[in-house]
Amino acid sequence: MKTKYYNVKSEESCRIFEECGEIIRGGGLVAFPTETVYGLGVSAFCPGSVKKVFAAKGRPSDNPLIVHVASPEDAEDIAVTCPLYYRIAEKFMPGPITVILPKRDNIPLEVTGGLDSVGIRCPSHPVAHQLIAVAGVPIAAPSANISGAPSPTKCSYVMRDMDGKIDAVIDGGDCDFGLESTVVSVNGDSVVILRPGAVTREDLLLVCDSVSVSPAVKDPSAAGDRPESPGMKYKHYSPNARFVLVDGDGREFVNYVSSVKDGNVGVICPKDLDGEFECHIKRYLYGDTDELCHRLFAFFRQADDDGVTKLFAPLPDDNGRGLALYNRMIRAAGCTVIKVTER
Ligand code: TXA
Ligand code: MG
Repeated sequence: MKTKYYNVKSEESCRIFEECGEIIRGGGLVAFPTETVYGLGVSAFCPGSVKKVFAAKGRPSDNPLIVHVASPEDAEDIAVTCPLYYRIAEKFMPGPITVILPKRDNIPLEVTGGLDSVGIRCPSHPVAHQLIAVAGVPIAAPSANISGAPSPTKCSYVMRDMDGKIDAVIDGGDCDFGLESTVVSVNGDSVVILRPGAVTREDLLLVCDSVSVSPAVKDPSAAGDRPESPGMKYKHYSPNARFVLVDGDGREFVNYVSSVKDGNVGVICPKDLDGEFECHIKRYLYGDTDELCHRLFAFFRQADDDGVTKLFAPLPDDNGRGLALYNRMIRAAGCTVIKVTER
């Protein structure tokens, strides 16, 4: 199949949305940008096409897809909402959050991996919004990467994973936040964070009585065989290199990495450590937490392109948006954390 490429910067956008909306309604697959990562979209009402999404990604069929709507109220047609859903929606939608709700019968079990719940997300990215609105159907969309690889934050990464396997891709430039949406389940006035993202625990406390974080967020081994969110049990986000987190301060990090003598070594670390490493070590540098969120998955893919075989990063702090980084990095590292303390 030839994948059609559209660029919102260089083409007339009305035509793009009309053509891509038509493809979606006809059961085709369209990759599109969101404020978090690129998604691989399909009509949530076409079970046969949903299966094609799983096939294109190589994704296990029990890992459910999030359904994207043009406005929070559109959830009514496909899910059973509750007052807390609307409090979350009022504050954070459109935006990078997904709320798990009981599904209605019109959402096929292929979308939800056999579950009786559905994840609802109303993205704020103008391209995502237009596409859903013009398609006129809710769009089921996982991240547009091959299963297990880092989610794509640039269109070139989508093309690398999906070219020739899907009908179309819309290039909307780099994604803003860079990590996938916060996924929450709701119960009365309480929220459980199943996957941390740009909307933090502290943010959610503004609209509900209690917010807990699933133990699997920090310790993927706690997910077990039947986790609250099936995605928790799959290895994810990994670069080809062996990725290791180092628990120690900046000096300890530098000393530990410098002691590694074999392999093609790379580091993901704060800019101020740049000058501390021997020159053969590949450096992927960031200023602050938001910049690392924005660039983490691109760093993983860049390290692959650079042939890095051993990649190291300091264990991130787990407060605020740091929890999202911690979750992605600990999973990419397969829980390998080395504790270094100097005497
Ligand atoms: O930011 C995002 O959420 C991106 C963009 C494209 O919207 N999408 C995304 O989708 O990250 P995906 O499929 O890569 O991750 C969806 C996660 C998975 O971990 C899945 O298990 C969980 O959400 N999930 C989806 N529906 C669920 C449900 N009904 N119950 C529990 N977990 C669910
Ligand atoms: Mg994904």
